[in-house]
Amino acid sequence: MGRKTDKNLYDAYVGESKAHQRLRAFAAKAEEEGLKQIAKLFRAIADAESIHAQNHIKFLDLAKTTQENLRYSFEREISINEITYPQFIKEAEEEQVSEVITSFSHSRDVEAGHAKLYKKALEHLLKGENTDYYVCQICGYTSDGILPEECPICTASKDKFLKID
Ligand SMILES: [Fe+2]
Ligand SMILES: [Fe+2]
Repeated sequence: MGRKTDKNLYDAYVGESKAHQRLRAFAAKAEEEGLKQIAKLFRAIADAESIHAQNHIKFLDLAKTTQENLRYSFEREISINEITYPQFIKEAEEEQVSEVITSFSHSRDVEAGHAKLYKKALEHLLKGENTDYYVCQICGYTSDGILPEECPICTASKDKFLKID
């Protein structure tokens, strides 16, 4: 594939991924304003943009073997937990934006848990296991096998968790 097309595929994947997230935020705003049909429209198009992102990513050769993908994901979590978020938190503290400090801190702490889950998976690819995961829809805390009474990171109650099976 040509170099331009390679770059364009990458840009398209990033653009569609951002559009997906942006439209989900727009949908939440429309819900808040009581505009249910508009919210639905934003959610529908958000879903479509996500399909585009997945279509483009297939050409980018990002998905290797599962063993490599677990290793890569583990390393990303470690680096974001140990380097990226601590730096962001420090800068948010300097600028005294307390809500953002909390948001970054929660994400940092959740990423540490993600790293642990990947580490466990790397050991034996979870062969023979049949575990459901529960994801806190407020902070992203990811629990394996247990639905917590309360989120250990953000204290959200258990009805805020989504079961992933
Ligand atoms: Fe993560
Ligand atoms: Fe949480």
